[in-house]
Amino acid sequence: MIVAGREMSVTEAVHSRSSKRAFLGKPVDADLVRRLLATAARSPSGGNLQPWHVHVLGGDELARFKALMQQKMAADPRGDGPGYDIYPAGLHDPYHTRRARCGEDMYGTMGIGRDDKKARTMFLAGNFQFWGAPVGMFFSVDRRMGPPQWSDLGMYIQTLMLLAREAGLDSCPQEAWTLWHRTVADFIGLPEGQMLFCGLALGYADPAHPVNRLRTDRAPLAEFAVFRGI
Ligand SMILES: Cc1cc2nc3c(=O)[nH]c(=O)nc-3n(C[C@H](O)[C@H](O)[C@H](O)COP(=O)(O)O)c2cc1C
Repeated sequence: MIVAGREMSVTEAVHSRSSKRAFLGKPVDADLVRRLLATAARSPSGGNLQPWHVHVLGGDELARFKALMQQKMAADPRGDGPGYDIYPAGLHDPYHTRRARCGEDMYGTMGIGRDDKKARTMFLAGNFQFWGAPVGMFFSVDRRMGPPQWSDLGMYIQTLMLLAREAGLDSCPQEAWTLWHRTVADFIGLPEGQMLFCGLALGYADPAHPVNRLRTDRAPLAEFAVFRGI
């Protein structure tokens, strides 16, 4: 993408990426999606295993899936039960505090208070409509793979999200889909040997929606990096 007459740098792509939770209906070009997915496959992976699998939904198929999700959510919003633990049990600090802060800041953008469980739950349900994005994706990995290959998959997803920025697109990675892993697997025809990791909403972010003003913070370098001899 050309920004102000020049290419977007990787640094700009990194800084301008954030998780967006409200999208415009504006469609995304199907060839562009294919190009982004193919280019993202230049991501590294241990032994060049390339353990990522991507399932893309758009158009009528996405509409059909979203309608199914609406029915399912109405019948039982708890979902299928998680396919894996999103966080370790008894999440400890500093992670617990970071997670809580992220939630508070997000709801804060919309004026949703700490005790307004109903509004929070209703907002989170947007996860299962891909936040209104015109393209929804799922990422899966062979069940025989371990943490190194899950890490490879994460790199693929980040590369994809940065390439999306370069193309003027926004995204939201979504682990929440593990709560509906059976429903997703049935719909996309995921083989039993594959495990769903997460979803991704892809599209043009709605600049007018307050939630998209969220700018999550980061721990300072000294909190997570140790230097010796450099
Ligand atoms: C693997 C992964 C899964 C995520 N799952 C969800 C999700 O289900 N729903 C959601 O709203 N955000 C989800 N997020 C977004 C995180 O909350 C977000 O990345 C984090 O708060 C940092 O904010 P930023 O992405 O805007 O920089 C996920 C992020 C990652 C990397």
